[in-house]
Order: sequence, then C-alpha cells, then structure tokens
Amino acid sequence: MATMKHLLKLETLPRADFDQILRDTAVFKRERGHHATQPLAGQTWALMFSKQSTRTRLSFEVGIRELGGMPMFLSAVDIQLGRGEPIKDTARVMGRMVHGAVIRTFAQHDVEEFAKFSGIPTINALTDDEHPCQILADIFTFQEKRGSLAGKTVAFIGDGACNVANSWIWAAAKFGFELRIASPEKFQPSPELLKRAGGKVSVTSDIQAAANGADLLYTDVWVSMGKETEAKERIQTLTGYQINAALVKLAKKDALVMHCLPAYRGKEIDEETLEAHADTIFEEAENRLHVQKAILNWAVS
Ligand code: CP
Ligand code: NVA
Repeated sequence: MATMKHLLKLETLPRADFDQILRDTAVFKRERGHHATQPLAGQTWALMFSKQSTRTRLSFEVGIRELGGMPMFLSAVDIQLGRGEPIKDTARVMGRMVHGAVIRTFAQHDVEEFAKFSGIPTINALTDDEHPCQILADIFTFQEKRGSLAGKTVAFIGDGACNVANSWIWAAAKFGFELRIASPEKFQPSPELLKRAGGKVSVTSDIQAAANGADLLYTDVWVSMGKETEAKERIQTLTGYQINAALVKLAKKDALVMHCLPAYRGKEIDEETLEAHADTIFEEAENRLHVQKAILNWAVS
C-alpha cells in the first residue's frame, strides 16, 4: 500500500528522500511529454496560496496536469480562510475532497497544522521559514551543470535570515558542502538555527571573503513577501550585499551564479550579471517544473 508523505521543510527531509527526488527529477526532465506513468491520475490537488507566485504556481499547475492530475488554485483570501476560518477546519474539509495540497503561506506552523488535520500529502510551497522546493531545484541545477555539490562551496549573498537561506542551511547540513552566508548582522541566520542544523556553515558580513573561490554565488530578494513594511530599512542595510561583476571575479573561474527569482536589478544583483548568467538562472527556474513532478511522485508513492 502506498504511504503518504509530506514535504514540510528540508530540516525533516531524510537524505535518502532528497537523493531520490533529485534522481527522479532527471528522469522527469528527460521524459517530459512521454511520461511512462501518471502517478496523479484521477486526483485533484489544491494549491492554496496566501502570497504571490509565478514559478511555483506555474510549475505545480503544469506538473500536476502532466502527471495526470488536476490542479485547483485557491487564493487564500478568496476562501473562508481569508475571513478567519481556522486552518484545522479548512484542512479537514479539503482532506475530504482533494488528494493533495500545495501551500504557500506565512507561518510554518500553518502548513504543519494543515498536514496534521487534512490527512492528505501536503507540500510547502514557501513559508516564512523555508522554501524546500526551491532549494531542491537549485541543487539539481548545480548537479546538472557541475556534478555533485560534495566538497564544493556555496556563497549566499544578501538576506541570510530569509526562508531561502534557511533551506540552504539545512541542505548544507545534509549534503556536506560548505555554505558561506554573507549578510549584514541584522540579517544573519540565528545562532540557534545554525547550532541545530550543524554542517559546514559560516556567517560573515564580508561579501568578498564569502565569494572568494566559491563554486556557486547565490542570492535572493532583500525584501521577502510579508516584509514590505521593512523595505526601506532593508534596502539601506543590505546595500552592498550584491552579486555583480566585481564579486563574480573573486569566485572560481567557472562559478555559477543563481537566483531563485524574482530578481530586483540594482539591488541583490545587477543587470549585467543577471543577464550574463541568464541561461543558468532561467534553467534553474525551468527545473522547478521537473523537481515538482519528482516531489509529487515521491509524495504519492
Ligand atoms: N522562486 C519562486 O518561488 O518564485 P515564485 O515566487 O514566482 O513562485
Ligand atoms: N525570500 C523570498 C523568496 C521568493 C521566491 C520571499 O519569501 O519573498
């Protein structure tokens, strides 16, 4: 009998499952358009989003369809949840009608509560704490282009306390690559998280030191969704924590530059660098689709 799985955070994703998803991603990518199986045949999957999305929404909607299922997009403000119906009630209703849920929201606790009460496979499509699907696609993209991340160095430049940085920290703990986070003090990951995760993770406010000899330079927006009221202060404090040509020069000659997107040119990355690395960055975005399929397949098998 098939067992049900949830992807709630990288923190709790076993390494073997990580590896299986990455292996299956390569197959789903290669076999797009002629998948041998339709693991979601006859299923309806809800996408319940409380924040905007382009890539995650597209990749899950297309991925679910291509695996034989039907996606149903629910903007959280349009359902009763937006008027205060509790998550645990929403979950118990949805669990009786749909076969799986992909949730983008604020509090990590809400996704976990949904998984607990719905009884259907639940996937975190971004919370304030983590963005697991993104980092799986990032690692897949690196592996495709440069091979295993083992022994390599990743430099994360910018808001080191955001969801994407957090998921990178858990990935480093599981894969054993070196992760250097370069952020101003105010936006560095909490010592408690670093201690809990372990792994070869260092934090600095010196972006040159972080980029020096790195195999991958990575960045994310300075103002994450939900942090808009802090925009002015964030932009002031994070100015300088930018991937640009001068920083790329410090990394390895064949270093990759990646960005989860959307990109704010002139902030976390400059126009010239983004365009110089557009092939990688948009393949990274495309890989979201192939990874989502592997995640969905893993969740129902
Ligand atoms: N990277 C990412 O998750 O993009 P969206 O917010 O457009 O889904
Ligand atoms: N840290 C960003 C990621 C966007 C994909 C945010 O939460 O807005």
